[in-house]
Amino acid sequence: MRKPDLTGKSVVLGVTGGIAAYKACEVVSRLRKLGADVYVIMTKNACEFVQPLTFETLSNHPVVTDTFERPATWEVEHIALAKRADVFAIAPATANILAKMAHGIADDMLSTTVLATKAPVLVAPAMNTGMWTAAITQENCAVLKQRGVHFVGPDAGFLACGDTGSGRMSEPAAIVDAIAALLCPVQDMAGLRVMVTAGATRERLDPVRYMTNDSSGKMGFAVAEAAMKRGASVTVVAGSVTAPIPAGCEVVRVESTQDLYDVVTTRAPEMDVIIQAAAPADYRFAVTYTEKHKKAHDGQPLVIELIENPDIAAAVGTAKKPGQTLVGFAAETENLHANAAKKLAKKNLDLIVANDVSQPGAGFNVDTNIATLITRDGMTECPLRTKKELAQDILDKVMEIRNA
Ligand code: PMT
Repeated sequence: MRKPDLTGKSVVLGVTGGIAAYKACEVVSRLRKLGADVYVIMTKNACEFVQPLTFETLSNHPVVTDTFERPATWEVEHIALAKRADVFAIAPATANILAKMAHGIADDMLSTTVLATKAPVLVAPAMNTGMWTAAITQENCAVLKQRGVHFVGPDAGFLACGDTGSGRMSEPAAIVDAIAALLCPVQDMAGLRVMVTAGATRERLDPVRYMTNDSSGKMGFAVAEAAMKRGASVTVVAGSVTAPIPAGCEVVRVESTQDLYDVVTTRAPEMDVIIQAAAPADYRFAVTYTEKHKKAHDGQPLVIELIENPDIAAAVGTAKKPGQTLVGFAAETENLHANAAKKLAKKNLDLIVANDVSQPGAGFNVDTNIATLITRDGMTECPLRTKKELAQDILDKVMEIRNA
């Protein structure tokens, strides 16, 4: 693999107090070899594990710590570092710094500077497995992920405390790869035209009543945003949504499944990749009213007939052009893999993202998802992760299929 060129990029590396602090030396050394300018901030406890002089020598810059007498420039210095960072990484990141970051506590140089930065933040957690799996640590990590903090690791294995389990800091090479990916985002979708559907459709009965579902648009928008970041030109076809539509893409708004069908089938021939994360209503009202439908006053049940809507994904699948990659989602509550695999075949898709929407943390109107990526050749499990992370996994799979 070609080594990234990080010349001209500044990385601020926070080092907190854990035995893995010694591995942060290798992170600095590797970043410098790739051309990056590295500034190290050490917490007081980190200085118990590694001497600041080691980082000063490796980074070729003074190391900022809380152990020295702070001159009056303290305030200026931390803001300057916060602004200078192209990426702000913390390795190792203890449970303590993760908790402080999640709750906005700024009581030392590192926590103050990371709070002030506008740069992407990456953390490499390292701690005892009990601390890592503690509910409060997991909650803090979920909060940070939701705010866009990137994570690398922790890995599982033998820990310095003698335990075996999850909590070991990722290897320096993996941390440097993650930092480089943030500094030089992959542009593997440059030149591709991608259409993403998102949100729910609404089927109107009359001017004041409609049938819909809980789709917020979060999943589709995460895919659209990720595709844009990877260089694609993106068209979003959005139904009813509560999440903000990402900036920078073409947006077409629709209401009903028929509207969605019309837009998607018309625009499909010009697209290289079509990803259908929307939740279109499968049925619409057989009879609709232009005026508000009056309530019957005789206490009789109201019987409403529903008729089936067209299947958009199936129509796009039937008209599939050579070179197109078609991705569908399957929202299931039982027999996840079998039902999704049937949809993959029936709709002539290349990939189906199967999510069991009855699972906590998965499906409608949450920031996370749990999915299985199913192709004709196999399955990849994607346990609980943010929709933004899942979006990257989906696009990785799309590019794998296209490059096969
Ligand atoms: O928007 P969020 O709140 O983030 O929620 C995300 C989600 C749960 C909506 C998303 O992850 C998801 O599962 N989307 C698909 C929902 C759905 O309609 O699933 P389905 O199994 O009923 O349909 C299978 C596929 O056919 C889907 O790609 C769907 O877009 C498509 N379809 C469905 C019905 C229809 N008439 N035409 C279609 O093209």
